[in-house]
Parts: sequence; structure tokens; C-alpha cells
Amino acid sequence: MLAAALFLLPSSSAKTSKTNPGKAVTFSKDVAPIFYKNCAECHRPGEAAPFSALAYKDVRPWAKSIREKVLDRTMPPWQADPHVGEWANDRRLSKQDIDTVIAWIDQGAKEGEAKDLPPTPKYNEGWVIGKPDIVIPMPERFTLEASGPDEYQYFQVDPGFKEDVYVQMAEARPGNRKIVHHIIAFIVPPSKNGPEMAKMSREEIQKMRAKMEKDSIFYRDGFLSRVKMDAPVFDDGCSIPTEITKRSGRSSEESGTLLCGYAPGMNQGIWEPGMVKKIPAGSKIMFQLHYSKAAGSVQTDLSSIGLVLAKTPPQKLLQTRPVSNNYFKIPAGADNHKVTACWKVEDDIHIVTLMPHLHLRGKSQKIEAIYPDGRKEALLDVPNYDFSWQTVYYYKKPVAIPKGTTILVTTTFDNSSKNKFNPDPTKAVRWGDPTYDEMMIGWIDYTVDNQAVKSVAINK
Ligand code: HEC
Repeated sequence: MLAAALFLLPSSSAKTSKTNPGKAVTFSKDVAPIFYKNCAECHRPGEAAPFSALAYKDVRPWAKSIREKVLDRTMPPWQADPHVGEWANDRRLSKQDIDTVIAWIDQGAKEGEAKDLPPTPKYNEGWVIGKPDIVIPMPERFTLEASGPDEYQYFQVDPGFKEDVYVQMAEARPGNRKIVHHIIAFIVPPSKNGPEMAKMSREEIQKMRAKMEKDSIFYRDGFLSRVKMDAPVFDDGCSIPTEITKRSGRSSEESGTLLCGYAPGMNQGIWEPGMVKKIPAGSKIMFQLHYSKAAGSVQTDLSSIGLVLAKTPPQKLLQTRPVSNNYFKIPAGADNHKVTACWKVEDDIHIVTLMPHLHLRGKSQKIEAIYPDGRKEALLDVPNYDFSWQTVYYYKKPVAIPKGTTILVTTTFDNSSKNKFNPDPTKAVRWGDPTYDEMMIGWIDYTVDNQAVKSVAINK
């Protein structure tokens, strides 16, 4: 903020004209290439941002706001410390690009000549991944009431996969952007208990569920899953006794593997050729939809996911791991409450992406590797977490992590009234689906080294 304020002083135009001596800056020639590359992903028709950055006439009215957001670096959105890790999807503008945009606006935001305009980037009928080989919609259209709290809805679909399917790219696409806050699609492999449960009667299944719920730290609140306020508390997730976690009622394996997601700022799952996600034969796809009622009227939604299948034999399987703590408790009013989670890595792996996921009280997240020799290295540092942007950080080059390393995720929460997003600073907060509860997850996508991937028949 301070830097932005300084730049806004009258001297700034003198400064920019120094970097662009006497050069007339136009939209067509100088600015469009920057906007096409760094803004149009979200600033184009049908996407989340308030204006399209593709055409001069749509951009021009926003010049003043663009100047402000580009200077203070709130646009393009990017929360990670640039000194930690090298990210393929780093959206930040270079100093030179910023100077160009500012010089353009300070010179009156001129259009320039049509012949200078680069070709408009091509987008495929709304799917960023191109035409999907398979589109899997929600099983039915969902109707959302006009008012009330946010809803988490779960929809399970059987895509009918008789063989393992290898996915090269995956994208979740909201049906109705007025109400879809986020989508997470999980792969739910055929259950080990499935055959046994199939033999049980409805009453027996219900009894088993009731017992599991009594023992569990989780309870159901309408559509939502939440942690009981009186469940045991461990803010240091790295020292939770296993007899506690065993009873938690849910393991990360049971909740399925992340396939892809949609949220403002979240990238599609596009992996390098040969690096694929596997959907085992017989798996179901579980949609988790977070609906918000900001539209103020009854709305319907039919979201879907699109899959592009691998066309070459898979060499590496991407695995997804939530390094998470479900046992924390953030006291009312606490402005810097620390919570940790750990994962002891049991193979030599390469990390491909990292993604912090917290809710409105989330303040920061740091993900570190503590190597077997005790050395500690920061992998990702997000000092100012912002729930509005669910950014997946894609490494430029996957990072090697030797077996025996501990991945340490450290998060701070601000549950005080200083946090303008805080729904209620007077309440202690535990884990839960709704945004007025909290979550603490560092999502990690990785591959296991020297993993023998069966040279399977490839998707036809
Ligand atoms: C990842 C998606 C994304 C990217 C990339 C992105 N924006 Fe945005 N932008 C948004 C969304 C969503 C909003 C509306 C919500 C908000 O203001 O936070 C927004 C808002 C804005 C606004 C504020 C409009 C107002 O209400 O005054 C400006 C200006 C802006 N963007 C400029 C840019 C520019 C310039 C770039 C590229 C250099 C860019 N954005 C890149 C998603 C994006």
C-alpha cells in the first residue's frame, strides 16, 4: 500500500517517461499483448472478472481503476512471496510491464492503430482445456433458494468407467456463476468395504453410521460437516497421538483424491504430457459445490467437469495429498493463532503443485520441507492469504523431496475484529465446511519416483 501511495504522487509520470523516453504508448501495440497474456484468462466474456480485457472499448472505461490495481499489485492476483519457489503460473507483471501500463494511462489511454493489435487469444467454447473427451455433469440440476446461509452440496456420479482412465487435463466448469463459489471434484475409488456394505440391510448401515458419528469429531449440521466444539484440541497437528486420529471418523483416503476444482483464480488441471491422474475403474466422481446466495433470487445450477484423456502412455501418476489439521481451535478474538500440520513422506517424490486452502480467517500459510538431515527449506510462502483467490501454485520444475522428509504446513488465523472478512470475532472457531468455520489444508500434488506405472492399454 505504501509503495502504491508513493507512486501515485505527481512525480510518477516523470518517472515513467524516463523509462519510456518520448515513446507513445498505445493499447493496440503495447498494452494488448500484456493484457492478453496476464489478464484475459479471467477478464473476458463469461469469466469472473468485471470487464473484458480483449477489446479497447471494454478496457478504456476502467483505466483509472487499472492504474490503481496494477500499481498496488492487487491485479493480477498473486499471493505468494516471489522469493520462495519458481512458479510456472506466476501471474505477476514485470516492472517493465507495469511501467508500460502506467505510461499508457498517463498519456491518455490511447487506442493506437488497429494493425498493431495482436491476434485475439482463442478460447474453446468456455473450456480452457480445449474440447474435452468426456464431460461429466452433475446428476441433476440443482435449485438453490434465494436466501439463507451458504450451502455445501454433494453430488455423486458414476461415470461408468470399466477400465482405469488416465486424465491429462481436467477442468471444473460452473453452470451458474452467480451462485457457484467453488467446485471441487473428487475421485472416489471403489470402496474396500463396498462389497460388505452391499450385504448389510439399511438398518444395519444406519446403525453403523450412527456409531461412527458418535465416535467421530465431526457432526452433520444440515448440509454441512463440522467439528464438534468439544472435540479434543491440537493446534500442533504434528503431535496428534495416533489413537486420536484413528477415531476421527474420516481419513484423507476416505474423502477421495482431488481431481480438479473451480474457484476464482484456480487453474485448471493441465499436466505435462505423460504425467496423468488416474481414475481407477469403477470409481465415482464426487462433486462438492459451494453455493453462495449473493444473487438474492432462486437460481439453478448444472455444473460439470471436463476430462481430456492421455493420448500417450502414462509415465507418472499424480497423487494428491491434503496435509491438514482438523483438530485446531481458534479462540475468539485471537489475531495471530498458529496451527500446524505435518506429513512424513515415505517415498522419494517430486512435488508438482502446492495449494493453501483456508477460509475467511486465514491469514498466512507457509509450507516447508524438513529434510532427513534436519535442514529446513521453505517451499511456498503466502504471507497474506486471501480467500477470494484459490491459487494453485505450479512449480516451473517439480521439486525433489527425499524419503523421510517432513512436510510442515504452518498457518496463522486472524479471528479478531481487525480482520475485515471475519464473520464473527466473538466466537471460537473449529474446522467445518461453511466459510464461517475454518479449514487448514496444504494441498500437495506429487509423483512418486521410480514408480512402475503399468504400461496399460491407453485410452482409446
Ligand atoms: C485470476 C483471475 C484474474 C486475473 C489474471 C486478473 N484479474 Fe482483474 N479481476 C478479477 C476479478 C474476479 C475481479 C473482481 C473482483 C475483485 O475486484 O477482486 C477483478 C477486478 C479487477 C479490477 C477492478 C475493477 C473495479 O471494480 O474497479 C481491475 C482494474 C482489474 N481487475 C484489472 C486487471 C488487470 C489489468 C489484469 C492483468 C494485468 C487483471 N486484472 C488480471 C480477476 C482477475
